[in-house]
Amino acid sequence: FGLYPFNTFGMDVEAAYFSSVRKEEELLELKNQDAYKQGIFVLGGGSNILFTKDVSAWVVRNEIKGIEKIKEDNAHVWLKVGAGEVWHLFVLYCVDNNYAGVENLSLIPGTVGAAPMQNIGAYGVEVKDVIESVRFFNIESGTFEEYNNEACQFGYRDSVFKRLLKGKVIITSVVFKLNKVPVYNTSYGNIQQELDAKGITELSIKAISDAVISIRSSKLPDPKVIGNAGSFFKNPEIPSSQYQQLKMKYPDMPGYKINETITKVPAGWLIEQCGWKGFRENDYGVHQHQALVLVNYSKARGAQIAALSERIMASVHDKFNIDLEREVQIV
Ligand code: EPU
Repeated sequence: FGLYPFNTFGMDVEAAYFSSVRKEEELLELKNQDAYKQGIFVLGGGSNILFTKDVSAWVVRNEIKGIEKIKEDNAHVWLKVGAGEVWHLFVLYCVDNNYAGVENLSLIPGTVGAAPMQNIGAYGVEVKDVIESVRFFNIESGTFEEYNNEACQFGYRDSVFKRLLKGKVIITSVVFKLNKVPVYNTSYGNIQQELDAKGITELSIKAISDAVISIRSSKLPDPKVIGNAGSFFKNPEIPSSQYQQLKMKYPDMPGYKINETITKVPAGWLIEQCGWKGFRENDYGVHQHQALVLVNYSKARGAQIAALSERIMASVHDKFNIDLEREVQIV
C-alpha cells in the first residue's frame, strides 16, 4: 500500500498493512486482526514524519471526524473534535464561529489528533493553551482513557504522547476550551507588521488568522508543491552563559530568555549562519526562505534527507557547540 499521498514530505514508501479508522468502536477490534502482530503505526496527517524505508508495521490512519459543542458559558465554549479532522479546517471553523484561541495556529499542516502529540505552536501560541482534555485508546489494555491538560505533560513541541505513551495509544478526540471574548496575541515577530501592512486597525480573529496565513505562505513551502514537514529541528535551549559568550562573537544572534539560566535560540538562524539556507543537492535541500525547513523537490529519498540533517547538525555543532534536536519523527 503506497504511503505517498499520506505524508507531506512526499516519500514514496510502502506499508505492508494499511487501514483507516473512522469510528472509535473500530479500535476495539484492532487486537483481533492478523495485522496486529506487525505492531501498529498510527498516522494522522503525516506532516511531521520522514519515512526512510517501507513500513513493516500496520499503518492505521486516523479518520475519526466530528466537531461537537459539549458545553458553553458566558465566556467560553468547549468543543470536542475528532482526531482525524484536518487542523486548519478546524481553525477556520473556529474563526467562522468567532471562537477565539487557535487563530494564531492557522495553516499548520496535520490533524487535530496530532496537535497535542507535539504541542504544535506558532506566533506566540501553543495548542496546550486551549486544550482541556485528550481522549485516547490504550492499545494494550483495549480501553479508552481521558487525560486532562496537566496529565498531558505539555512542553515545547513535547507531551506525554511523545514519551511515556509513545506507540501505546491512539488519540481519538480532543476537547478545546475556546474564548467567546477574544484575547488577541499579536506580540510575536511580524504579526503586527503584517496587520499594519494590510491597513487593519480593528483587530478580529479573522484578521489575525489571515495575517498568519500570509506570513506562513510567504516563508514556509506549501507541502502540496514542495515536500516538507515544517520545522525539521527544534529551537535549542542553551545555558544563558553560553548565549552571552556567543553573542560577543555574533552580536546579531537572536535569543529568547526562557528563565534566569536558559535561553532559546532559533535553529533557523544557526543553520543559516552555517551557510545552508537555500542549499540544494539533487532533489533535496534547505528551504530558501526558512533554513529550519528541509525540502524534497521531487523524488528525494528519506535517507538522503536524514543524511542532510546529520550534516547540518554536525556543522551547527562545529560552529556553535550547540546540538540540534530533530522535531520531525524519522521512521
Ligand atoms: N531565522 C533566520 N534564518 C532562517 C529562519 C529564521 O535567521 O532561515 C531567524 C529569524 O530572523 C527570526 C528567528 O530566526 O529572528 C525566528 O524565526 P521564525 O519567526 O521564522 O520562527 P522559528 O523560530 O524559526 C518557530 C516554529 C515554527 C513556527 C514559527 C512561528 C519551531 C521549531 N518552529 O520557527 O513552527 O511557525 O516559530 O511561530 O519552534 C513547525 O513547528 O513546523 C513550525 C513551522
